[in-house]
Amino acid sequence: MELLNALRWRYATKRFDPAKKVSENDLRQLMEAVNLSASSFGLQHYRLVVVGDDAVKKELRAASYDQAQLTESSHVFVFAAMTEVSPDYVDDYMQRMADTRGLPVEQVQGFGEYIKGSLKDKSAEFIDNWNKRQAYTGLGTLLAAAAELRIDSCPMEGIEPPKYDQILGLTERGLTATVICPVGYRSAEDATQHHKKVRLPLEEMVVQV
Ligand SMILES: Cc1cc2nc3c(=O)[nH]c(=O)nc-3n(C[C@H](O)[C@H](O)[C@H](O)COP(=O)(O)O)c2cc1C
Repeated sequence: MELLNALRWRYATKRFDPAKKVSENDLRQLMEAVNLSASSFGLQHYRLVVVGDDAVKKELRAASYDQAQLTESSHVFVFAAMTEVSPDYVDDYMQRMADTRGLPVEQVQGFGEYIKGSLKDKSAEFIDNWNKRQAYTGLGTLLAAAAELRIDSCPMEGIEPPKYDQILGLTERGLTATVICPVGYRSAEDATQHHKKVRLPLEEMVVQV
């Protein structure tokens, strides 16, 4: 499986070469890959913010414990979870499903009512956690897709979400920064690329029943 070779090749890149930029075409493919990720009920209750602007990346670095990947990478993918899932949001999804599949909306409304019913009594804390978990499905896909294109990446949770929300204007969009992933091309000086990958033996990682 080629994906295994790509996953062996990738590593959490600490130093990117700031002179090397990811092409618009490759960026578009990475965005498509994230958009094709699975999500609970298919709701896609997170959004992807792609930052290429140097001044904004500099501001984000100050909100990321000064980690160099923020300014040295080509682009920073910010996964922002929705802060709530409203009944209107579910209805819009049902309409999109009906339109996409050429069905009368009445035919899919039962599913929409089921989703809304299942969310009705959930605590704000549950919804917050649930929404953020969705962002990680997108992150996983991005890491694999970038590796296939031999684009370097670094998944990062070492950020201050309230500062991100302010810098990127996420709060007013009903979003909150959850996890990020700078992408670009490794610097020849990044020593980490020579470190052997540390992973459990498969027998310890996997419980086969
Ligand atoms: C959710 C998540 C958060 C991470 N946060 C950071 C981070 O803030 N800074 C960083 O340099 N690496 C971060 N990493 C990278 C991990 O340290 C790295 O993936 C791990 O050591 C395994 O190494 P590998 O990805 O190179 O195989 C994070 C990884 C994940 C999955």
